[in-house]
Amino acid sequence: MNPLILGIESSCDETGIALYHSERGLLAHTLHSQIALHNEYGGVVPELASRDHVRHALPLLRSALQNAGCTLRDIDAVAYTRGPGLSGALLVGASIACALAYSLNLPTIGVHHLEGHLLSPLLSDPAPKFPFVALLVSGGHTQLMRVDGVGRYTLLGESVDDAAGEAFDKSAKLLGLDYPGGALLAKLAQTGVPGRFRLPRPMLHSGDLDFSFSGLKTAVLLAAQQNPTDPQTRADIAHAAQEAIVDVLVSKAQNALKQCKLHQLVVAGGVGANRLLRERLQTAVSQRGGKVFYPDLEFCTDNGAMIAFAGAMRLQHQDARRDYRFNVKPRWDLQALNYAE
Ligand code: KG4
Ligand code: ZN
Repeated sequence: MNPLILGIESSCDETGIALYHSERGLLAHTLHSQIALHNEYGGVVPELASRDHVRHALPLLRSALQNAGCTLRDIDAVAYTRGPGLSGALLVGASIACALAYSLNLPTIGVHHLEGHLLSPLLSDPAPKFPFVALLVSGGHTQLMRVDGVGRYTLLGESVDDAAGEAFDKSAKLLGLDYPGGALLAKLAQTGVPGRFRLPRPMLHSGDLDFSFSGLKTAVLLAAQQNPTDPQTRADIAHAAQEAIVDVLVSKAQNALKQCKLHQLVVAGGVGANRLLRERLQTAVSQRGGKVFYPDLEFCTDNGAMIAFAGAMRLQHQDARRDYRFNVKPRWDLQALNYAE
């Protein structure tokens, strides 16, 4: 049987719906971003996020079905993001998924959001082959994982404080940019003068694969306070901040490949959309004969396709249930997912 999986993502500020067919691939995906909604608050407001997921999930589902030329009756399993994320937001997706599955008598699969990101480059062509090293860089996580297969994940290192996306966003905020500021900071950095500011690269030489980014925002704050606030200076600081973050990510990712004796690097999560990071990783990894894989740009940030796809992978391993009670996991260790050896 080639099942059709419905995927529902609602862990933070994007409502994503997708239909993935295990033979025909991704049939449709629809997305609603809440960025405009949270913009004026300078960050995600959890209660507003939950309400907005309620508003958009079913209309998005309807258009995904229409785009795919399917009906609810064609669906064979319902995958949803069970965690980690904002609990109210997760509950919206989980309750819709479980109610739909109950009414259609289908199995449900509670997907780990990071597993969705981690496997998302497999939706692209060419796709990486197991085993590979994955650099997960999102607004909430910065992790290096060794991936030996679906459900076979080993944490190699992670941020001890802020995530890379958080470092981008907080630096952007200090420079007066809107939330989330990662992409805006990258844009501002394009007009920055290289070398005018030199910001710290915390833990660059720590000898392990962990990261620390919280010191960077203090350095950005000081640079912003101690200098005039003209547009060129802001661009120069943005340039230095991006250089610092990218330097650390590239260096640690290279070390991880070396340590694991692997040649394929998969980059997933919103910060994976960053152009400088992509260029530098490409150069560094190809120099030692390796290859970098990214999800398509639209699947770097949160989306339903990665959840439907991870659900399909899980279903192959018979990880679905027909128990419609649900509880979400706002905090959830990715390694807890591993299949028994
Ligand atoms: O994976 P994601 O969509 O959501 C989470 O699961 O967190 O990642 C969002 C993060 C935000 O911090 C955002 O600023 C950052 O990804 N981001 C970028 C870029 N595009 C998105 N950071 C740097 N450069 C970009 N081009
Ligand atoms: Zn994410």
